[in-house]
Amino acid sequence: MAFLNEHFFKLKAGYLFPEIARRVKAFTEANPATAGRLIRCGIGDVTEPLPGAVVAALHKAVDEMSVRESFRGYGPEQGYDWLRAAIAQNDYRAHGLEVADDEIFVSDGSKCDCGNILDILGHKNRIAIPDPVYPVYVDTNVMAGHTGEANEQGAYAGLVYLPCVPDNGFVPAPPKEPVDLVYLCSPNNPTGAAATRAQLEAWVEYARRHEAILLFDAAYEAYITQPGYPHSIYEIPGARECAIEFRSFSKSGGFTGTRCAFTVVPKTLLAWDDKGERKPLHPLWLRRTTTKFNGVPYLVQRGAEALYSPEGKAQVRALVEHYLGNARILVEGAKKAGLTVFGGVNAPYIWVQTPPGLGSWQVFDKILTEAQVVITPGAGFGSKGEGFFRVSAFNSRANAEEVARRLQALKW
Ligand code: MLT
Repeated sequence: MAFLNEHFFKLKAGYLFPEIARRVKAFTEANPATAGRLIRCGIGDVTEPLPGAVVAALHKAVDEMSVRESFRGYGPEQGYDWLRAAIAQNDYRAHGLEVADDEIFVSDGSKCDCGNILDILGHKNRIAIPDPVYPVYVDTNVMAGHTGEANEQGAYAGLVYLPCVPDNGFVPAPPKEPVDLVYLCSPNNPTGAAATRAQLEAWVEYARRHEAILLFDAAYEAYITQPGYPHSIYEIPGARECAIEFRSFSKSGGFTGTRCAFTVVPKTLLAWDDKGERKPLHPLWLRRTTTKFNGVPYLVQRGAEALYSPEGKAQVRALVEHYLGNARILVEGAKKAGLTVFGGVNAPYIWVQTPPGLGSWQVFDKILTEAQVVITPGAGFGSKGEGFFRVSAFNSRANAEEVARRLQALKW
């Protein structure tokens, strides 16, 4: 007799984005005439083609794979040395931050790593998670059995929620109580708010005082345009002793379909074992990676490496500016529609307050049926996301302009 992981039954419905896709499919099937008008601003999926430097590197790598002399089989599970070196040098050491090449672990996505990291962390940790936030943090902890049941608002027993609300600029301060693991996402998905240096200093100080670990998701760091907002948690002194950082090429290099990301696990980061000894996490993450993963394809790693060439860097900047230009258009459009808008400055997401009396799934239905635009209801990101909706700026310029027009044409 085989048994299931009972914790899965605590999860609410489907994962947010497949659930949205299901509702959109049902709508377009029932209203085929509107299908051609549909504009997707739901999931944050890039629309623009891969940068030219990446395309050239991919072609070259395919040619290498086509001849015996340069063919590659299994690569190092944690990533090829040349990509780890390019990342550590360009994203960290060039900015004066101490990160060694072998502290970089190349992976197929931050989403996967944010979930997988739980493999090397104990089950007794008290866990703090911002609300609203990227749903993967909560759902993976539910699956791992780190929570109780969800209440009517969707909040799980056993988690410490950190409300991200207009009053705190959507950036939570450390809680009064001690916790052991804290997820932070800056710039935040979905609110678009980035944490300031002072705010991150408070978190590092808290983590060191409580011997806690910060799980810092910086997947959107390329979108930080204003000064004073750290791009990496390691810009904060002491963070090497208390933080793991997740980064991704998905939203910077347009890699959502190509798949490449990385996680930084400093060798100076320690946690307690059951015998009361403090030990480094780095060997555990290496062991986990080499056991459960066979690495990102050689071709893809060559493509990612090309993002660090001079042309690659310029092309990434142009991509980011394109999406941020869309965000500005969407912010303006939503404001002209009389809506209250946040985000969109240091992030590719705009976070919009729902008009009085309308829940976020009601707004989802209204915008889908009346304007044929897909947005993401705030409730999908946590109970404090109710009363808001997220509009993704990942789109063509023409679509962003059209969405801005349609938002204004709606009767709110
Ligand atoms: C989102 O829309 O929140 C993200 O694109 C999802 C993801 O990055 O996995």
